[in-house]
Amino acid sequence: MIDAYSIPVTKIERSKLNDISLENIPFGRYFTDHMLEADYIDGEWKNVEIKPYQPLVLSPSLASLHYGQAIFEGIKAYRNEAGEAFIFRPYDNYQRFNVSARRMQMPEVPEDLFIEGMRQLINLDKSWIPNKENHSLYIRPFMFSSDEVIGVKASDTYKFMIILSPTGPYYAAPARIYVEETYTRAAPGGVGFAKVAGNYGASMMVTAEARSKGFDQVLWMDAAEHKYVQEIGTMNVFFILDDNKAITPGLESGTILAGITRDSAITILKEMGLTVEERPVNIDEVIEAYKAGKLKEVFGTGTAATISPIRELTYKDFVMSFDVEGWKTAPEMKRRLDSIREGKTTDNHGWMFKI
Ligand code: COI
Repeated sequence: MIDAYSIPVTKIERSKLNDISLENIPFGRYFTDHMLEADYIDGEWKNVEIKPYQPLVLSPSLASLHYGQAIFEGIKAYRNEAGEAFIFRPYDNYQRFNVSARRMQMPEVPEDLFIEGMRQLINLDKSWIPNKENHSLYIRPFMFSSDEVIGVKASDTYKFMIILSPTGPYYAAPARIYVEETYTRAAPGGVGFAKVAGNYGASMMVTAEARSKGFDQVLWMDAAEHKYVQEIGTMNVFFILDDNKAITPGLESGTILAGITRDSAITILKEMGLTVEERPVNIDEVIEAYKAGKLKEVFGTGTAATISPIRELTYKDFVMSFDVEGWKTAPEMKRRLDSIREGKTTDNHGWMFKI
């Protein structure tokens, strides 16, 4: 049994914060002074500690490097005007982390280790939380198998870690998205709903191909018919019709990630008076709506990406373009969400966890 309340802490001698500026930081390049590390050995979580951020020494036979038992989460911490630090919906990420763990035959991480460990780590590095619009401290909990054995089997040992990275916006500008019809991301019965490292690895070639044609990302389609919209890999996707209806792919097929920002967006859109439909979304329906002038906005939601407008959606040779400047819904929804996160509006949903 771990006792997260007495995690041993080794502090750095001099903060790296003295050497970097938190102005205009790119996503995921800088890491704070400390990290949390724990080992799963003999059926128990042990060796829990917070220590200076540093490289790991790994064996070449480390099982996760060969067979990919590796999962992660993305969470954000914010600071309000009074300087208090908050984490956005960490319990939801905690639940999803263990959903991913179960699917990958990995041990669950106890709440104390995940939440209290994260709280203590952020408390130690809270001066790294940027105090600027559209900036936050990105929290990356992850777990990987650590047996030094190359037989194909679930590992007996695992490492759980949390690292922190101050960050600005993920996409610098509204995105250009290519509707991908050849390659697929996930099929029913697979791991599309889990936050598994391999889902991202498998997307790299396809994304690189799309980038070479000037797109930022691809919109994945279903594996069977290549007709039903799935997700954008780093984001869930929403379509706004006629300013009063939002549609987004439902979670029933088990092929898309149950985004926490997706869930927050659904809640806020309903509060704004929109009807929200979570259901299969056929790309033909999207095109018809665009042609009829009913498709007003398309945007992605994600922890890293927050709310990202899509200015162009290309299906085969058909280009759907949007005048993002004139949008009403996504900007208002983002304003409401940011306002809760930055502590400017009362958090009626219990989303903000005080550190
Ligand atoms: C996130 O939004 O937190 C993600 O994990 C997506 C991407 C950065 C991998």
